[in-house]
Amino acid sequence: MAWRDRGVLPPGLPFPSPAFTFLWWKFPYPLLEDSQRRYGDTFTLRLAGLPPVVMFSNPEVVRQVFLDDGTTMEAGRFNRSLAVLLGERSVLMTDGRTHARKRKLLMPPFHGARMQAYARAMLDLSDRAIDAFPRSAAFSLHPFMQEVTLRVIVRTIFGALARVEDKLVAQLGEVLDVGTSISLLIPALRRNLWGRSPYARFMAASREADRTLFADIRARRESGERGDDVLSLLLDARDEDGEPMPDDELRDELVTRRGAGPETTAPALTGAVRWIVERPAVLARLRAELPPDKCGDPAAIEKSPWLDAIVREALRLQPVIPLVGRVLARPVSLGGWDLPEGVAVACSIYLAQRRPEIYTDPTEFDPARFLGRGKPSAAFGASELFPFGGGIRRCIGMAFALYEMKMVLARLFARTDLEIAHRPVKVARRSITMVPKHGLRVRLSRREPRPTPPGA
Ligand code: HEM
Repeated sequence: MAWRDRGVLPPGLPFPSPAFTFLWWKFPYPLLEDSQRRYGDTFTLRLAGLPPVVMFSNPEVVRQVFLDDGTTMEAGRFNRSLAVLLGERSVLMTDGRTHARKRKLLMPPFHGARMQAYARAMLDLSDRAIDAFPRSAAFSLHPFMQEVTLRVIVRTIFGALARVEDKLVAQLGEVLDVGTSISLLIPALRRNLWGRSPYARFMAASREADRTLFADIRARRESGERGDDVLSLLLDARDEDGEPMPDDELRDELVTRRGAGPETTAPALTGAVRWIVERPAVLARLRAELPPDKCGDPAAIEKSPWLDAIVREALRLQPVIPLVGRVLARPVSLGGWDLPEGVAVACSIYLAQRRPEIYTDPTEFDPARFLGRGKPSAAFGASELFPFGGGIRRCIGMAFALYEMKMVLARLFARTDLEIAHRPVKVARRSITMVPKHGLRVRLSRREPRPTPPGA
């Protein structure tokens, strides 16, 4: 089919070769850079077994994509391959009115007592992970970050399910780890193979976790038990006809948060740690701004301009998701190309955030570039900085993830000194996200005891 679209779509490798497809799955960032060098700002990516994707990174085009109200560009159709991981009825898979309705229902309330509860859980769970770091041997940091982010999600989003926290964290951790196999995203490779394939193991692990989830949903519906958590809010939510959300839809939304949360925030944290450890001056300034006595104070951590700039710069230089995409529901003119209905378009987060006309020395890690440049919530989603996507599809968990990243990083660097144990640090794909290779191998050279909580 690819040859038929020649002339209609922007240039790019004309045929989807299996070797190119393999390289894309393994090394998307060098491949994006290489395609940009060969074909210019706009190019077409052809992968075996998938429709062609037209890739943009020009801020004008990105702005146009994010301004769309969902009637011309459909993200749900683009995200279809994730249904196996997140469920058919997840918000990510929907478009149009269903999407708008779900989003309204799902936007997490993020203020007051709820924030304080989140902060407490984030700091406690960071301490727990730090206490578990091996003392002298080198270790991979990412699994510790995954444990923190998964437990935070279980406690704050599933709330009362915390009574089965250990069981659920173990089950969900298994689902996330088995779910990283690329073969799950390619329908032709979803084979059972006598229960031994990644697909079979993923389905078995998901079924196991679902049993725990459904049992709790049922118990809470019957008892009327509610807490200060998202599951409680969703249990009580009613649609326009006054109907509650069916259990399987509820399950898909919880599973989406379980997947979309830790699977992105843990790599983002691991990536940020790499930059901080590699730049002593960045770390020294962080410690000067957040001395140990301030690292138990969520408000001070959240407001630290330097930590905020570090988080923004880490997500700019090494975004955890390489691109966001939409499928055209009707013909549209984008970046000088008249594109037909049914074509997939993508905005490359990676390329857009490294444009030299916007960022001086774009490949340098330099948080100072963000000092004094507004609040992150205002900046993220703009056409030059969109690690959380944008427009009507911008990440629902953005504020939560940014807050969590700050709490974990503040606590980590208040209590420890880390060294990189394996160089050079390369970046590897983990399912749809990018994470430092080998989960970032580090060594602990200092660890302080937990700080005493205020008033203790
Ligand atoms: C650093 C962490 C995170 C990053 C980098 C990230 C990134 C993204 C991106 C790029 C999108 C697609 C946006 C688009 O298509 O324009 C997205 C969507 C989404 N994210 Fe996140 N995310 C993160 C954390 C989270 C967390 C913690 C949650 C939930 C607890 C979450 C839930 C979602 C959901 C539900 C969507 C779908 C929104 C929609 O389709 O309307 N994410 N995220």
